[in-house]
Amino acid sequence: MNCPRLKNWLDERYDRKEITKLAKSKLVPEHRHDLWYYTGGITLFLFILQFLTGMLLAFYYVPHVNFAYESIIEIVTKLNMGWFFRSFHHWGAQICIVFLFIHLFGTLLLKAYRKPRELLWVSGFILLGISIFFGLSGYLLLWDERAFAAVRVATGGAGAFPIVGGFIKAFLRGSIDVTGDTLLRFYAFHVAILPIITLALIGLHILLVQFHGMSVPLSLEKRKLRQVPFFPNVFYKDLMIWLVVLGGVVTLAVLLPPEIGVKADPLVPPPANIKPEWYFLFLMQTLEFFPGTILGMNGETIAILCVSAGILFFVLIPFIDRKSARGEKSTLFTWIGVFYLLYFLTMTLVGFLS
Ligand code: HEM
Repeated sequence: MNCPRLKNWLDERYDRKEITKLAKSKLVPEHRHDLWYYTGGITLFLFILQFLTGMLLAFYYVPHVNFAYESIIEIVTKLNMGWFFRSFHHWGAQICIVFLFIHLFGTLLLKAYRKPRELLWVSGFILLGISIFFGLSGYLLLWDERAFAAVRVATGGAGAFPIVGGFIKAFLRGSIDVTGDTLLRFYAFHVAILPIITLALIGLHILLVQFHGMSVPLSLEKRKLRQVPFFPNVFYKDLMIWLVVLGGVVTLAVLLPPEIGVKADPLVPPPANIKPEWYFLFLMQTLEFFPGTILGMNGETIAILCVSAGILFFVLIPFIDRKSARGEKSTLFTWIGVFYLLYFLTMTLVGFLS
């Protein structure tokens, strides 16, 4: 778009040279693994779509135990295109988490976390945790029996954490069980608290990417790689990939609108074969490996401690992998990365099929 009057108006007030200089100075290395660079951008794009569709749904959703379920039925049956926006928000969330995991394992296996990008890794990891909590809190808003049972299990599991477990469980539920108070609390998390924290953290994450520039895989570090300008070359590619992703989400939203189960009733036993969302399956499956008691101790507590240790190790990888930090090949951490990836995929598949 060429609009000289607007350009003049802006030029009289702002010095655009600085911004143009900054945009021109952003270069991206070109190599055989550079496709991974697009995964963060796709996640960002999907987050923006989630914010937009979430805002639309928030105009009509009623966060009250007596009306929540009914308001969603109204959105999908009476609101113009309501079924589509709800379905889009559902599938957008699923695909966003898929890309988040692809981005996570991509940066893990390419060792993009190594010095000086440790904080990028940690901020990304917190974003992953928040995204999963976005999923759980959004799931309860439907207030059907599956969502109700899943949140009861998840918050009950948090209660098995030693010392602070009771507090976390009470804090999440807002009462002694999953009730209308929990619904209101999860609503507050989903539409206010988590979005604010997410915006701040995405801002930090992207600021750190700008500060450090894109990392190059260790095996290519010594080579002289061609540097491509981000604006417009890489950005155009970003836009084209986003368009394809958008097409995928729209297709899923139209062909597979998510079902709405029976309204939750805390007094009725949970339906058989209840399963959490797919990204919790690896956790559920791991917890099932542990017997009820181990050497006289609560098996669930031991399981939660083992999983927490595994996650803590994962977050601290950039600080433990000293070889990669020195720019040396670190086969051990490649295998550790492969192990985490295979464990996640296998347990998710086993959980899905069981
Ligand atoms: C809301 C979630 C996230 C968003 C929107 C996001 C966005 C981005 C973007 C746009 C980039 C630059 C392009 C790229 O490398 O793909 C990036 C880089 C990076 N992200 Fe994320 N990210 C998220 C979550 C994560 C997670 C879960 C991790 C891992 C724990 C992570 C670790 C990294 C690292 C290490 C880089 C640097 C890559 C490099 O320099 O080669 N991010 N992220």
